Amino acid sequence: MIFFNRLFRGIFLSILAVTATAGESPLARFVGTPACASSSCHGGAGPQRNQVGRWESLDVHRRAASTLQVARSEQIARGLGLTNSLGQSTAAQSPRCTVCHAPNALVPAAARRVELDATEGVACETCHAPAEPWLRSHTRPGPPRDDFTRADKVAAGMRDLRDLRVRANVCVACHENVPRELLAAGHPELLFELDGQTRQEPRHWVERAGPPAGYQGAQAWLVGQAVAWREVAWQSKDPAETSERLVAREAGLAWLVRRAAQSVGVTDGTPDAVARAVATRVWTTADTATVLRVLAGSSEDFRTPATPVAVQARRAERLVLALDRLLAASPAATAQAADEALSSLFQLAQWLPDFAPARFAAALEVLSGKLPVSPPVP
Ligand code: HEC
Ligand code: HEC
Ligand code: HEC
Repeated sequence: MIFFNRLFRGIFLSILAVTATAGESPLARFVGTPACASSSCHGGAGPQRNQVGRWESLDVHRRAASTLQVARSEQIARGLGLTNSLGQSTAAQSPRCTVCHAPNALVPAAARRVELDATEGVACETCHAPAEPWLRSHTRPGPPRDDFTRADKVAAGMRDLRDLRVRANVCVACHENVPRELLAAGHPELLFELDGQTRQEPRHWVERAGPPAGYQGAQAWLVGQAVAWREVAWQSKDPAETSERLVAREAGLAWLVRRAAQSVGVTDGTPDAVARAVATRVWTTADTATVLRVLAGSSEDFRTPATPVAVQARRAERLVLALDRLLAASPAATAQAADEALSSLFQLAQWLPDFAPARFAAALEVLSGKLPVSPPVP
């Protein structure tokens, strides 16, 4: 099958072969969203019980399958020849689209305990893993309910999405690499950034407070960028996928992640090693301040004529998001002082074909000048 190329298979496997966590068996079966939705479980009213309601009414993932019916999808489908004998779009049935927009459609029969609704978009078990192995024991009547802990559920196959690297691996499967042909047919380019996209998703959970052990935006951002780098590097190595665009994209990420990781003493070379090291370290507010100062102080890197402008543009694209997340994680006064300078940087990095490195470097120096001179003492 021509469409089943390496990249597609990669996306497919990373979503379906739910083997990211030890203990998950490839035969773990999906129980379907209705099984999560009873009112005493996740279909209730209170903040601890309303996950299904929030997802149903607020989360774009719920509508991801119906996006395959809109005019833009039809246009993309035509570009790819995804049409039936009447010339109608078959995007909603094509694995090239459902792999990300309606992943229930691709769950093999052996992994379904019940029929799954392919129109429900990105569903509970897409992210949390097929629930059969942990459903029964986590729903048996209590009290006490605290004798089947989160660790027990994770050991039984539930993905530990509090682990930033595990979480990033789930999201990145659908949020970074788009096969070349889909881009050519008009699918938007995707750009994964864990912290911003986590905050943008209407949350159905309470994020643990940090620091040191809870969720920290700057740490999530860096783990996410390292994982994105790994994915782009992988796509770029595929002879059927590689392009100047991808090479520049990878170079931009490699530059950003290396600079940021080294500034906090993480010198492991491979993207995945960086992701692991950053996800498991105790991240401090001083780390956030250090990375912010180092990246804000990188204007010289935009003044080196040897670096192709296309690479500099891709550095800038990631750098503005980095500064945005790092400033959001900084003291309010710092974020406020740099706000206007950040807006100019966003504007200069908005349209990559016209990217002007020298202007960007100058604007970066303005931002750098707004930051406190030394990082706060931890
Ligand atoms: C199975 C694929 C898949 C997974 C896994 C996934 N998403 Fe998505 N996501 C999508 C699709 C498809 C859309 C576009 C929905 C639409 O508009 O049709 C989307 C849209 C979004 C959006 C809104 C649009 C945007 O890109 O800004 C956010 C935010 C988002 N996802 C965050 C996340 C986060 C955070 C995770 C990981 C916890 C995640 N997603 C995991 C497929 C996925
Ligand atoms: C690698 C995962 C992936 C694949 C494969 C994929 N999409 Fe998407 N698609 C996304 C995500 C994620 C978004 C959300 C982008 C955003 O809002 O930033 C999206 C957005 C879209 C949009 C909205 C674009 C817009 O401008 O708002 C359309 C339409 C779309 N996809 C159609 C398709 C069609 C048709 C296919 C199959 C030919 C397809 N997608 C395959 C992940 C994917
Ligand atoms: C796009 C991915 C995604 C989808 C889809 C998704 N979740 Fe989640 N969910 C997360 C993330 C990320 C967290 C936060 C990490 C954690 O607490 O485990 C989370 C947390 C939770 C929690 C823990 C709540 C808390 O505060 O401790 C529950 C329960 C939950 N989800 C249930 C559901 C249910 C039910 C659905 C389907 C209606 C669903 N999730 C769909 C990603 C997702």
